[in-house]
Amino acid sequence: MGEASKDQPRLIDAKELSKHTDEDDCWMAINGKVYDVSKFSDHPGGKDILVDSSGRDATKDFNDISHSSTAAEMMKDYYIGEFSKGDNVDLKKKEGGFNVVMLIPIIIIILAIVASRFL
Ligand code: HEM
Repeated sequence: MGEASKDQPRLIDAKELSKHTDEDDCWMAINGKVYDVSKFSDHPGGKDILVDSSGRDATKDFNDISHSSTAAEMMKDYYIGEFSKGDNVDLKKKEGGFNVVMLIPIIIIILAIVASRFL
């Protein structure tokens, strides 16, 4: 499971997530990321509570406890991929928003129009 990297995160959808709900095969999504907590047997809140929140989006469960920054650090060890809510679109495109590079041709066209008026 360690093949997920920043460049090419593994996309895990709700259907796949829902298959991992056992004590020794326990996945959950928190804030858009998927964690495999099967090996997290010394969770201070107990292992059972993790199993209860497994196989689904556990963001609310996790946030309701107001976990510490130590907990947030620990999560990195269990990260296995990004949670995709079924729309398997390229993450890069999803994050994109407005691309500044797109402004360049627009600026050139505006400059060309302005220049043509004065020449
Ligand atoms: C990758 C996921 C998780 C990690 C790394 C994690 C880690 C931790 C850590 C380090 C603590 C000790 C207190 C703190 O530092 O905040 C804690 C406490 C706790 N966690 Fe989690 N946790 C995770 C998921 C969850 C989930 C999904 C639940 C579900 C409700 C949960 C319930 C609790 C509870 C109830 C405590 C309080 C224990 C107490 O103070 O008696 N945790 N967790």
